[in-house]
Amino acid sequence: MPAPHEVPSNLPLVLVDHPLAQARLSTMRDARTDNAAFRAALRELTLMLIYEATRGLSVERVPIHTPVAKTNAIRLSNPPLLVPVLRAGLGMADQAHALIPESQMGFVGIARDEETLLPTPYMVSLPESLAGRPVFVLDPMLATGGSMVHTIKLLLARGATDVTAICALAAPEGLATLAAANLGIRVVTASIDERLNDSGYIVPGLGDAGDRQFGAV
Ligand code: URA
Repeated sequence: MPAPHEVPSNLPLVLVDHPLAQARLSTMRDARTDNAAFRAALRELTLMLIYEATRGLSVERVPIHTPVAKTNAIRLSNPPLLVPVLRAGLGMADQAHALIPESQMGFVGIARDEETLLPTPYMVSLPESLAGRPVFVLDPMLATGGSMVHTIKLLLARGATDVTAICALAAPEGLATLAAANLGIRVVTASIDERLNDSGYIVPGLGDAGDRQFGAV
């Protein structure tokens, strides 16, 4: 298990260190885990990350009748927009949507240039206005933070003020990048790993989250 790290003070962070979350993460880390088992573990971990991320969502009360009595039911009053970052975030999208069926989904496609490690956008499909709407960005790996900063700037440019980055793993370098960018967002993750290596992979990490889900193409 990686050692705990300092979290930048201007970056609110929820660390989902529940044993079940850590068990799924261990399955994902294990190089022997095949694509199908990796996808299943990511789905299950996503359930736990979303569960924690949604804890503070606003709700409204609506009167209903149970078979026994009148009572007030609770439902989300402002469901978040889900934004998986392609391609690795796709593996989190279905589970997040299953937990919040009333949510809508946007998409951002960002590839990482393997030489410069810089984010290269190739697709943006988002509502024009995100004012007043919570947004959950789904990306299993917060590595350099470049793709995440790029994605969040797209959201802020559309008026978003309540953005949560939901990641299976985070590198301290990625958290530092987010903190330095001072974007006013929050992070929900199951682990802060040790560091990035020279190729920009999280250590110990789990390898390439896209390749681990879908195969190396
Ligand atoms: N993206 C990945 O999929 N894995 C890493 O370790 C870093 C970035």
